Amino acid sequence: MSHHRGAAVAAICAAFYQNIWIWMLLLGAALAADPLAGAATSSQCQNATKCGGVDIVYPFGVSSSGCALSPDFEVDCNHTGNGVHKPFIFKNVELLSIDVQLGQARVRNHISYACYNISSDEMNFYRWWLNFSGTPYRFSDSANKFTVIGCRTLAYIADEDYVGRYMSGCVSVCRRGELIGVTDGVCSGKGCCQTAIPKGLDYYQVLFEESMNTSGIYNRTPCSYAVLMEASNFSFSTTYLTSPLEFNNTYGGQAPVVLDWTIQTANTCKEAEVNLESYACKSDKVKCIDSFDRTGYICSCQDGYQGNPYLQGPNGCQDINECQHGESYPCYGDCYNKPGSFDCLCHAGSSGNATIQGGCRKDLLSPKTRLAIGVVASVLAVLFGFLGWEVIRHKQKIKRQALLRQTDEFFQQHGGQILLEMMKADGNDGFTLYKRGEIETATNNFSKAHVIGEGGQGTVYKAVIDGVAVAIKKCKEIDESRKMEFVQELVILCRVSHPNIVKLLGCCLQFEAPMLVYEFVQNKTLQELLDLQRSRRFHVTLGTRLRIAAESADALSHLHSLPHPILHGDVKTANILLANGLVAKVSDFGCSTIDERTQAVPKGTPGYIDPDYLVEYQLTTRNDVYSFGVILLELLTGRRPLSKERKSLTLMFQEARSNGTIIELLDSDIVDEMSMRVIKRAADLVSQCLVVPGTTRPSMTLVAAELRRLAEADEVKRSPQPPLVLEDLRFMDMGSTTNTLYGESRTSGAYSLEKKAVLSIEFAR
Ligand SMILES: *[C@@H]1O[C@H](CO)[C@@H](O)[C@H](O)[C@H]1NC(C)=O
Ligand SMILES: *[C@@H]1O[C@H](CO)[C@@H](O)[C@H](O)[C@H]1NC(C)=O
Ligand SMILES: *[C@@H]1O[C@H](CO)[C@@H](O)[C@H](O)[C@H]1NC(C)=O
Ligand SMILES: *[C@@H]1O[C@H](CO)[C@@H](O)[C@H](O)[C@H]1NC(C)=O
Ligand SMILES: *[C@@H]1O[C@H](CO)[C@@H](O)[C@H](O)[C@H]1NC(C)=O
Ligand SMILES: *[C@@H]1O[C@H](CO)[C@@H](O)[C@H](O)[C@H]1NC(C)=O
Ligand SMILES: *[C@@H]1O[C@H](CO)[C@@H](O)[C@H](O)[C@H]1NC(C)=O
Ligand SMILES: *[C@@H]1O[C@H](CO)[C@@H](O)[C@H](O)[C@H]1NC(C)=O
Repeated sequence: MSHHRGAAVAAICAAFYQNIWIWMLLLGAALAADPLAGAATSSQCQNATKCGGVDIVYPFGVSSSGCALSPDFEVDCNHTGNGVHKPFIFKNVELLSIDVQLGQARVRNHISYACYNISSDEMNFYRWWLNFSGTPYRFSDSANKFTVIGCRTLAYIADEDYVGRYMSGCVSVCRRGELIGVTDGVCSGKGCCQTAIPKGLDYYQVLFEESMNTSGIYNRTPCSYAVLMEASNFSFSTTYLTSPLEFNNTYGGQAPVVLDWTIQTANTCKEAEVNLESYACKSDKVKCIDSFDRTGYICSCQDGYQGNPYLQGPNGCQDINECQHGESYPCYGDCYNKPGSFDCLCHAGSSGNATIQGGCRKDLLSPKTRLAIGVVASVLAVLFGFLGWEVIRHKQKIKRQALLRQTDEFFQQHGGQILLEMMKADGNDGFTLYKRGEIETATNNFSKAHVIGEGGQGTVYKAVIDGVAVAIKKCKEIDESRKMEFVQELVILCRVSHPNIVKLLGCCLQFEAPMLVYEFVQNKTLQELLDLQRSRRFHVTLGTRLRIAAESADALSHLHSLPHPILHGDVKTANILLANGLVAKVSDFGCSTIDERTQAVPKGTPGYIDPDYLVEYQLTTRNDVYSFGVILLELLTGRRPLSKERKSLTLMFQEARSNGTIIELLDSDIVDEMSMRVIKRAADLVSQCLVVPGTTRPSMTLVAAELRRLAEADEVKRSPQPPLVLEDLRFMDMGSTTNTLYGESRTSGAYSLEKKAVLSIEFAR
């Protein structure tokens, strides 16, 4: 059992709303006093205020001064003892620096850890989270890496709803607990791992996989650490493993993390420029840049200018006098500054490139000869210029043709030709090779409005092709060496025809990344159904649960028993779609099979991952059986695989089984005297599926057969399933599911792979 000690909390949403009025009143008073007061606010706020060695520059401002552009940019300059002051945003996030040119701020982020405590034989956890939702701040995807240190560690980084949109993770192991092959400066899975984060992340939390703990290696490395931090500030040192507190101490428990901020007076520059009053780019020589998700903008000085683009006057963007900054703008000749740039010419009597040392050569020829040469040269230049122009035109023509051929090349590259031949040989029907144009038209050029799901493996679009609704999945790119395998998988996949498997209709290979086209399943996922059940808005009978389980098991069994078995690898409730009549349809394989063979990339979803897999990194059919066991357990208990307290359902199940308290764990909605025999047999089945190590787990075929028997049992067939009326779904509590990480909330009327929480763990072996 784990003991959650000091689960730390950073309350970031602010209580500053009472301050807005004061701020606005101040501004109002200033405006009344002086018609030019728009500038007056900034005049007193022109110069940076220092706080603990950090320059607080506009649009930021110390909260007492009323200088900040908006409450989100207010900085508290707090006394932290011994005469030391430190700046904080949102009351308790320490600010390290502000970069107005890039629209970034560096703050300190607590390092989360999991340490084995020998005296209590428990893991002590400290997990940090930060919530910037509803603020102008986002974690920078380019500057930060999720960094994990440890010898037996799997840490996850997740957004708010940890079974929701975004979750990734990173495995760090030391083979047999030894430090062989662990190298300073190299962070590649041995003792240290790093993973990138998506754009626009505004919520951050850390979870540790509890089945990978340091109890076995506590004398060497009792602690595992995880933190989202500035990548350039990190360099791996083996001492982080040999002296366990070293990493934590190096950073004083908090590492720098880079935030991107934007001005949110308008969503885009275009909208902002309309209202000059609120337009934040006050300086001359300024350019405005839209944020990537068009929820704000930043200002920046034009090239050759520096200063604060948010300020008018002397502190705004000013011409850089390059001639005075020889270190950044070298000039070995005569330097002439001009607005926005500079000229660097060789001294009189010499010529060449004066910006390179020794780039100027003394002129050997007299002015007269130079003139003569000049005339000849110009004539030649005109001649060659004409020729050159012709050549360029010819080249452009070739380029245009190349562009036309490119789609064809992608096709070849992805093994399109092989696929065609295979299809011809097999007389394959029902599988379509879509044209690039068809896909582009159907998705309106991959417009955001068509996106129904986003995950680690790709993006899913809804589209209509030839009057048929389809789901188009854009896979990650595949590499050259695996294209043959990919095509073979495709040929197998498209032949899979099973009532409980989402049908692959075809593909399009004329893009950089392959596109897979699936039948569109209108309705919910099993995960969403269980959410409805949990909130008691819908009653799913035991019979229906067992039938859904049996159908899903059947589908997996079918995939496993193909001549060339297909492993799903990410079996979870969010991947079981429910068609009309709550018929289960297993989805989300295809793209996944592309990477499946590279065992260096374990994947799965927390709560569903087979602990065996984490040890072996070799995907087998047994892993799918384990994950399926978790689904069955969810169906019986109505609980999530990871509870809000991050306790895993499988652990609770095993404890309850050994204590004989299973009944308490079961969903009271399905428990009654009559059904107990069936429920008990189902629980036995769960137990068999979850056995670790997995060698004695039943095959999916056996599981499916047993479930079918249970679903057909008279006890469970008594109570009929009330129909799922789509209207019910409108009342779904969207609270957690529509939290908008990517700036757009999609009303979930239809099915989606949206709640994918694909784990793409990066690590090397
Ligand atoms: C994060 O902040 C947003 C906006 O203040 C709030 O709606 C949301 O509930 C917060 N999330 C958590 C987990 O506190
Ligand atoms: C701002 O700084 C400049 C030079 O550093 C100084 O001349 C000016 O008086 C300062 N303005 C205010 C309002 O403090
Ligand atoms: C800083 O001071 C503000 C205002 O007095 C207070 O609300 C906040 O909690 C302080 N923060 C820290 C980290 O001490
Ligand atoms: C380890 O556990 C014991 C007993 O629960 C506790 O008193 C002690 O503070 C823990 N040690 C650490 C380092 O947390
Ligand atoms: C560590 O993990 C192992 C298996 O993964 C488990 O048996 C053990 O109870 C765990 N120990 C702690 C302290 O969590
Ligand atoms: C990391 O960031 C801290 C805090 O800003 C700074 O003191 C330290 O010098 C940085 N280290 C490196 C290697 O950049
Ligand atoms: C890491 O450092 C911080 C601050 O020094 C301290 O509070 C925390 O307990 C340390 N963590 C561990 C695991 O020692
Ligand atoms: C001079 O050399 C610099 C540095 O190699 C180069 O960037 C620049 O284009 C050159 N200028 C001319 C006029 O060739």
